[in-house]
Amino acid sequence: MWGYSIKDYATLCEDSLASSSEGWVLDLACGSLAFTAEIYANCSNRPVVFLDQSLKLLRKGKSRLEKLKGNISENMFFLHADALQLPFKANIFHTVISLNLLHCLCLDDVKTALKEIKRVLTDGGNSAITTLVQSSRWSNRYLNMLAGSGALISRSPDELLSAFNDMEMQVTQEIKGNLAFIKYG
Ligand SMILES: C[S@@+](CC[C@H](N)C(=O)[O-])C[C@H]1O[C@@H](n2cnc3c(N)ncnc32)[C@H](O)[C@@H]1O
Repeated sequence: MWGYSIKDYATLCEDSLASSSEGWVLDLACGSLAFTAEIYANCSNRPVVFLDQSLKLLRKGKSRLEKLKGNISENMFFLHADALQLPFKANIFHTVISLNLLHCLCLDDVKTALKEIKRVLTDGGNSAITTLVQSSRWSNRYLNMLAGSGALISRSPDELLSAFNDMEMQVTQEIKGNLAFIKYG
């Protein structure tokens, strides 16, 4: 409906995990791991922190992973925390993956989240981010309807890019339908 395939999330996640053979990974606002649990289930070489502000969704994600693997392996950690105030020192994650958080945040909070991502990433680290954005597709009407009901924030790809620019983050952005795929680092 949004003009992309949910397989794109798995591909993004797989590529991000493969971007380095070692180093900590942060899945920021992981939710219930609806699109990525199978990829994480096969990740044994890198420690992964799954972080979300919703305990309910974290528990759902954990049990999804548990069902796939039979247990939660020692390299997986679930953390109830705020993306706008990450409880980590600077420069510790080689990879930050954040799927569909930014369209839940107002512009000031987007910038705070980006500042936090930048802060916790190591030099040479990388981040992969997706978020819904406006497009010229018919689905844009649905996006705006959801925005009108307060379920998400509708913004243009340019508005999004300028938030990254404001945080001095040089990124590449690919748009598929209503989804922006952003790479940093
Ligand atoms: C649209 S869901 C995306 C979940 C998952 N990444 C996915 O793509 O399936 C947005 C997620 O962001 C989380 N979230 C929103 N604001 C947050 C914040 N300030 N700190 C941490 N998580 C937050 C919500 O709890 C929810 O799990």
